[in-house]
Amino acid sequence: MDKIRIRGGNRLNGTIQISGAKNAALPLMIVSLLTPETLTLSNVPRLADVRQLQRILQNHGVDIMVAGKRPGQNGMMGDVKQLSAKTIADTLAPYELVSKMRASFWVLGPLLARCGEAKVSLPGGCAIGTRPVDMHLHAMEKLGAEIEIEAGYVIAKAKHGLKGAHIKFDKVSVGATHAALMASVLAQGDTIIENAASEPEIGDVAECLVKMGAQIEGIHTSTLRIRGVTSLHGAEHRVIPDRIEAGTYAMCAGMTGGDVLLKDANAGHLAAVIDVLRQAGVSAEPTNEGLKIYRNGQALTPVKLDTQPYPGFPTDCQAQLMALMTKANGTSVIRETIFENRFMHVQELARLGADITLHGDTAEVHGVKKLTGAPVMATDLRASVSLVIAALAAEGETMINRVYHLDRGFETLEDKLSACGADIARIAGN
Ligand code: EPU
Repeated sequence: MDKIRIRGGNRLNGTIQISGAKNAALPLMIVSLLTPETLTLSNVPRLADVRQLQRILQNHGVDIMVAGKRPGQNGMMGDVKQLSAKTIADTLAPYELVSKMRASFWVLGPLLARCGEAKVSLPGGCAIGTRPVDMHLHAMEKLGAEIEIEAGYVIAKAKHGLKGAHIKFDKVSVGATHAALMASVLAQGDTIIENAASEPEIGDVAECLVKMGAQIEGIHTSTLRIRGVTSLHGAEHRVIPDRIEAGTYAMCAGMTGGDVLLKDANAGHLAAVIDVLRQAGVSAEPTNEGLKIYRNGQALTPVKLDTQPYPGFPTDCQAQLMALMTKANGTSVIRETIFENRFMHVQELARLGADITLHGDTAEVHGVKKLTGAPVMATDLRASVSLVIAALAAEGETMINRVYHLDRGFETLEDKLSACGADIARIAGN
């Protein structure tokens, strides 16, 4: 297994290209199941999760081609992928594949909508919380599917096709909104999805569906109105920039001081993160090219916040903010309201000298003068990158083990950071 070695203390200066959003690219790839024609996606990040989903889609019969790069084209600009689900070869999504990545469960909606049946493994355990799928199943039932759970599998049937419905979620779920949206575009009649998640990644998927012939109103709001169509066609779509990757590098720059341009970051998607960075004493200026982040000598100020669905502060940036606040001038209070177990990074940050106390869903982060490098373990994707942030400001050497978690969601992280002056290297495992 590879490791990442970081020697802390260097300021970051330069430009970091923000990749396409993992959490938009994954559902967009799944959308390809809805049409026999070709869906061409550009700016697809090169990530382990994308490769894993590719295997799952190929298992359903999706033919996937990756277009090459022209000479001189920026190596960090993502892949162009052509996905063609001319025929669905298999409506089974087996445990061996689904258990490796939760988002693959989202194939349920499109398979049901296109084929009238699907058998998809329940996703199983997760490091950040219990993460049930009851809301996904509720949405499919509302759309007329019959659902049974048998031997760890969801068996869903809609012999005469799905029918439009009024779906009202009692809490906000990104995945359940994707599922309801992807299924209802091919249902007969009208669907209303109330209390829909309004994360930019859902808007991106909805915009792609519209290019494919879907009829959707209320995109980017919490009420989606869908008029079902009988078929969708191919389209070309560019994946939006990754707001979580941008937020993460903003915190790296804030942690080390210095001056970094996050090229192509969409400041509009990052309003809550920018607000918190500014409260913390980190400057964030939207520019024509992206988002400029700098902190020149000013001390870090503690903050108090709750994670919230969009447009609130994202749970996917909570661990990174906590790492930043380990060096603030006082005590920060961070409450995690989305996932019940998303504090696995706390014990690892403590190994670097952080002073954090947990009270249920709330972490009190008492800023310290100094962090010191140590061997640490990555536990999940966002937790592991919080260790990178702390290590960049720690004295001495930090060795991060189990970096496959990082590779799931950060494209060429060590190259992007070292180009800005960080002392970071990947040590290949045996
Ligand atoms: N929930 C239910 N029942 C359901 C579905 C969700 O109770 O049927 C609960 C969850 O347990 C959680 C809350 O609802 O407490 C919100 O979960 P949500 O469904 O919104 O999460 P998700 O769709 O599984 C996506 C992202 C996560 C991100 C969350 C929240 C992708 C591929 N995953 O997950 O991203 O944290 O939304 O914004 O888009 C990550 O990238 O590291 C990551 C974990």
